[in-house]
Amino acid sequence: MISCRSIPVSLLLSAFAALLVSANCYAQKFDSLALTPPMGWNTYNTFAGRFNEKIIHDMVDLIVSSGMKDAGYRYIIIDDNWTGARDSLGFLTVDRERFPSGLRALSDYIHASGLKLGLYSDVGYKTCGGFTASRGHEFQDALMFARWGCDYLKYDWCNAGGINAVGAYTTMRDAIRAAGRPMVFSMCEWGNNKPWEWGASVGHLWRTTGDITACWDCIDTHGGAYNSWGVMKILDMQHPLRAYAGPGHWNDPDMLEVGNGSLTLGEDRAHFTMWAMLAAPLIAGNDLRTMSKDVLGILTNREVIAVDQDSLGVEGFRESTADSLETWYKPLAHGDWVVCFFNRGSGPVDLAHDWNSHVIRDDLTKSELRCDTHAYRLRDLWAGKNTGTTGRTFRATVPPHDVVLLRLER
Ligand code: GLA
Repeated sequence: MISCRSIPVSLLLSAFAALLVSANCYAQKFDSLALTPPMGWNTYNTFAGRFNEKIIHDMVDLIVSSGMKDAGYRYIIIDDNWTGARDSLGFLTVDRERFPSGLRALSDYIHASGLKLGLYSDVGYKTCGGFTASRGHEFQDALMFARWGCDYLKYDWCNAGGINAVGAYTTMRDAIRAAGRPMVFSMCEWGNNKPWEWGASVGHLWRTTGDITACWDCIDTHGGAYNSWGVMKILDMQHPLRAYAGPGHWNDPDMLEVGNGSLTLGEDRAHFTMWAMLAAPLIAGNDLRTMSKDVLGILTNREVIAVDQDSLGVEGFRESTADSLETWYKPLAHGDWVVCFFNRGSGPVDLAHDWNSHVIRDDLTKSELRCDTHAYRLRDLWAGKNTGTTGRTFRATVPPHDVVLLRLER
């Protein structure tokens, strides 16, 4: 028998250190997974609970054939309504009526298409839709997600029943870590517990608000049950939050309603632009089978996507408001900037912008945009053309509920 006295202290110490390291590594999210905001497509905004294996296959094929994959959309996220009952050992199963071939087969199909699988669960016993969720089975579920080849978990907050949010999300973070498969962890507790204050070490993105709905500026009260918010309502809730986001940890103002029907094309463009200015996750939610060319053009505009995906990872800010016209700035890597002229009004706005009139200061990054000492080249990102330099007054008409978006290149 080995007595404690016969084990060298150094060995004991290194064993202890190894234990600490391994214990500690279960108390971390997977790093480097979302250094730029995640991009993908999610079932919920179009289909809610009305989807099945065939629909997901169609969407996967369309993401690839439409060029969305090449533009950066990666995660195919199966939202609420996919889980079946637990098996006799407590493992989660998939609803076999919706997914007759099973989830592993679907996962393989998604991966073979060069895409990644996202799944959804909830901190409660039941999801928002009343399906089996992860409470009390967090480690077992994370293991199952890993076995299914999951790359992204959206974790919702329905039926939370007074549970502590930091604890609930940290438990699932640790469960994902223990399962050993890197997954982007998307925390969906609607901003109720200020996740921006504690979320960076727990997940890769956190919802900042309740659900978005496909309208410009409405509130849907669901008959008094809860509120869903139009695009402008959600946008206006983001202002105090920009300091909290950055590479690997993003504010999530919810998924895109671009192409979901009730927004005009200009509104779709403005919505997509503002999400890019916010460095928001770009998770499309439209029916790709019926998507128009114009909507596809918005979702795949690479120069606008590059604004969202810029490696500096800094959210833009509204610098001024003049009547219905807001002017937003976003500092980019390598000294470039983006300026967005955003017309929230119902009539067109004629713009004459003198770049030299004042210096733009970003207190967060301590950076300055000075056009009096340097003439930037101007690139109109929606028109896809160069448009002079900041040496001259910029003139344009901004249509109602629409934007003019310029990249200032050094
Ligand atoms: C909540 C979430 C939504 C969606 C639904 C699914 O409302 O906030 O994004 O996941 O649940 O039921």
